[in-house]
Amino acid sequence: MTTEQDVARHYSHGALERTILDALRSSGKDIDKLQPSDLSAADEFHLGWKAATAELANDLALSPGMRLLDIGSGIGGPARYFAEQHDANVVGVDLTEEFVAVANALTARCGLSDRASFVPASALSLPFKDGAFDRATLIHVGMNIADKAGAIREVHRVLRQDGIFAVYDIMRMGDGELSYPMPWAETNATSFVETPDTYRRLLKDAGFVIEAERNRREMALELNRKMREDIAKNGPSPLGMHIVMGPAAGVRMGNLMTALSAGTIAPIQMLARKR
Ligand SMILES: C[S@@+](CC[C@H](N)C(=O)[O-])C[C@H]1O[C@@H](n2cnc3c(N)ncnc32)[C@H](O)[C@@H]1O
Repeated sequence: MTTEQDVARHYSHGALERTILDALRSSGKDIDKLQPSDLSAADEFHLGWKAATAELANDLALSPGMRLLDIGSGIGGPARYFAEQHDANVVGVDLTEEFVAVANALTARCGLSDRASFVPASALSLPFKDGAFDRATLIHVGMNIADKAGAIREVHRVLRQDGIFAVYDIMRMGDGELSYPMPWAETNATSFVETPDTYRRLLKDAGFVIEAERNRREMALELNRKMREDIAKNGPSPLGMHIVMGPAAGVRMGNLMTALSAGTIAPIQMLARKR
């Protein structure tokens, strides 16, 4: 089995759409009149959740009609946010075919299919022409990609001149073993966490100029603390990241938050412009 097949298997659920719809019904939502925000407890698969997506969208200076490629789009939370809140025309690509199908189905239920659609593809071989996009995002995906240089070259190819690429990945900040499972990998066989220095070098080598960088560690720790307080007070809600991450969600999030608290890793956003 290739690394990409292993990664897709890691994320595949088997009955994800039905499970999400059942959880929405249990939360009292009308699944035939969904709002994108109804899904945000489960469809933002990264640290800082929807708040981080909103900040990233502002940093990208999105405007109506912009063509945005979201690479590793998961079940589509960030893409729907960019489409609904900023009127961007979004295409998402993802290795995990079940995620692509669920992303399209949920987007249709939200009435956003004219502005956001999803296709199965690898970051290493994007099925688009040169210069096809104004913006590109890679949100908590690089940890699954060994050949980051190849992925970054592909993004550079499909962006127009002066287009902006936002990377928001978990990066290595200090020494120390990572404990698995993590949300993105069962073992270190499919985990390729790299330092900000490595990302900076690869972005520059591909022809990008890095214009801004943000560390979202404090935001992620604070939001996680609030979420735990909320669960302790009100109990777990039917719709949450446990649906997408499965029964090991608690262990995976525990290992992630331990490494984040220890300063071994951090969620870093870089904005890079194609020159
Ligand atoms: C942690 S999830 C993040 C999903 C989404 N970006 C979000 O923030 O909600 C990582 C996603 O990256 C996808 N992925 C991993 N490696 C990939 C690759 N080489 N090409 C395309 N997608 C990939 C996985 O299938 C998964 O959906």
